[in-house]
Amino acid sequence: MTTIPLHGSLVANHQLGATMFEGKILRDRVAIITGGGTGLGRAFALRFSELGAKIAIASRNPEHLEPTRAEIVQQGGGAIAIPTDVRAPEQVDAMVEQVVKAFGRVDILVNNAAGNFICKAEKLSPNGWRAVVDIVLNGSFFCSRAVGQKMIAQKYGKILNIVTTYWATGNPGTIHSAAAKAGVVAMTKTLAAEWGRHNIRVNAVAPGPFPTEGAASRLFVTKEDIERMVKGIPAGRLGDPRELANLAAFLVSDYADYINGEVVTIDGGASVNFPMFDWEKD
Ligand code: HXC
Ligand code: NAP
Repeated sequence: MTTIPLHGSLVANHQLGATMFEGKILRDRVAIITGGGTGLGRAFALRFSELGAKIAIASRNPEHLEPTRAEIVQQGGGAIAIPTDVRAPEQVDAMVEQVVKAFGRVDILVNNAAGNFICKAEKLSPNGWRAVVDIVLNGSFFCSRAVGQKMIAQKYGKILNIVTTYWATGNPGTIHSAAAKAGVVAMTKTLAAEWGRHNIRVNAVAPGPFPTEGAASRLFVTKEDIERMVKGIPAGRLGDPRELANLAAFLVSDYADYINGEVVTIDGGASVNFPMFDWEKD
């Protein structure tokens, strides 16, 4: 798995290979990953495949999907790519039917598709607000609903929602994304409570900044942007997508079966690093 060389010295340089888990902890599971062709979604798709899952990746642009699908197949995994706009419930329903037709069932859903850009709240147009809330909040619900119906019938399922650390705090400049991610957390907890009795677990992960093309091109564009962010991260670096993929794999595996309705933060400590005092002076 490769990461984009984004101002390289600020990301992890240690090896995060296939040895973290002893076995194929997702063997024969069928996983849908929205936005699975690029960035973090691609990292989930490749890692879940290494761990034995059959993969369906779904997003709008076939050109984003095809290289990831081909890479998984080339590595001996099973993968299909289904062009889908998660904002359109009928496309989502058709996508899920196609996955069940291809692989017989659907065990795992990762709601990873998202939209984001920086804009002051007073300048954000109604369409700009709608675009992000539609992808993140409505899209996650449409996918969860369609997949949940299959999971309830088969009495098995794991749903993982990708939010951000700022779901809990808000974030100046991304009001649409912050509000939508907070909604996704409310959905996570509600579905966990409603569907736990059907042997379905619903959790979320809240990442801090990870170097992907999608985020870097819109949110942390310059080397200075990244250096400023890294200053607030006790780990002293950005996250490595493989670290997130390993956490996600654990959470969608049967090894995490007593975790339900939880949000797991993965941010190198950034969200607890708001010192009130000048504590570093001697
Ligand atoms: C202000 C903007 C804008 C910008 C778009 N809009 N970009 N407004 N500043 N930079 C406005 C448009 O003017 C338009 O409103 C409305 O948003 C819809 O724009 P479209 O381009 O028509 O929308 P669409 O083609 O649906 O694209 C959706 C998108 C786009 C969200 C705008 O960026 C996209 O496709 N993103 C997908 C990938 C992505 O964003 N990845 C980043 C995830 S990273 P008007 O009024 O003009 O019609 C992430 C990290 C979080 O979430 C945490 C990091 C730590
Ligand atoms: P990314 O590569 O831009 O991922 C976004 C994905 O969503 C793309 O693959 C895109 O594919 C897909 N998508 C967008 N609109 C869609 C729609 N309407 N229907 C279906 N798919 C759609 O960015 P990323 O950094 O990997 O982000 C992945 C997830 O991690 C997001 O939920 C993001 O909020 C979260 N996150 C990222 C970071 C970070 O620092 N990178 C931090 C915290 C959380 P198409 O263009 O082909 O549709």
